[in-house]
Amino acid sequence: MSIHINAPADAVAKRVLLPGDPLRAKHIAENFLEDAKLYNEVRNAFGYTGTYKGVPVSVQGTGMGIPSISIYVHELIRGYGARKLIRVGTCGAMHENIKIRDVIIAQAATTDSSVVRNIFGPSINFAPIADFDLLSKAVNCAKDLEISAKVGNIITVDRFYDDEIDNDKLRQYGIMAVEMETAALYILSARYKVQSLGIFTASDHLLTKEVTPASERQTDFNDMVKIALETIIQD
Ligand code: HPA
Repeated sequence: MSIHINAPADAVAKRVLLPGDPLRAKHIAENFLEDAKLYNEVRNAFGYTGTYKGVPVSVQGTGMGIPSISIYVHELIRGYGARKLIRVGTCGAMHENIKIRDVIIAQAATTDSSVVRNIFGPSINFAPIADFDLLSKAVNCAKDLEISAKVGNIITVDRFYDDEIDNDKLRQYGIMAVEMETAALYILSARYKVQSLGIFTASDHLLTKEVTPASERQTDFNDMVKIALETIIQD
């Protein structure tokens, strides 16, 4: 039992998928896991545990933004012993080389959030990075599933609506996409020595202003979930 997760210590698996939207957690549990059981309903942040190809896997909705995901990741690691965590989320494509609906694997998560400064002070810009083992396994799983995936740097921002951020400069330095949680996942994973990764589907495009139709979003989302599940069950 932790403050935001109302479940016994053994109710959560060591391998956890992390969608932002709790209803996506429900969708994954119902469509991908065997014998999935709901372990958390506090604040409607649904969490389920089941098995995938015989391996116990949990899926926990994290909510939006660094403060929200930090609570769930912290409690999953410290309270429940989670050791492999993969965020499965949507992102805004911001580079001309990225198309809407592309799958993106975040090798690193640049951020404008104070979360880095709050830990390291003004003189050190810590680089939040993915676990290399999970990253390389995810790249191979995507190849095996014949899903093309782009790997590189993304940005985790504090504000969804932000007319001050310099997207042109970020693009010049190769930032592929924007979302709001992964830097915190990578920092907490470094701190507590666990493995984590972020995999995304581009749901909108900052340059072209395209947005994926709701009808296509589920199929795109499922491709990303397959990569994440095939990756997380490996030893
Ligand atoms: N900005 C920030 N976060 C996002 C976006 C975006 O355009 N799309 C999906 N998550």
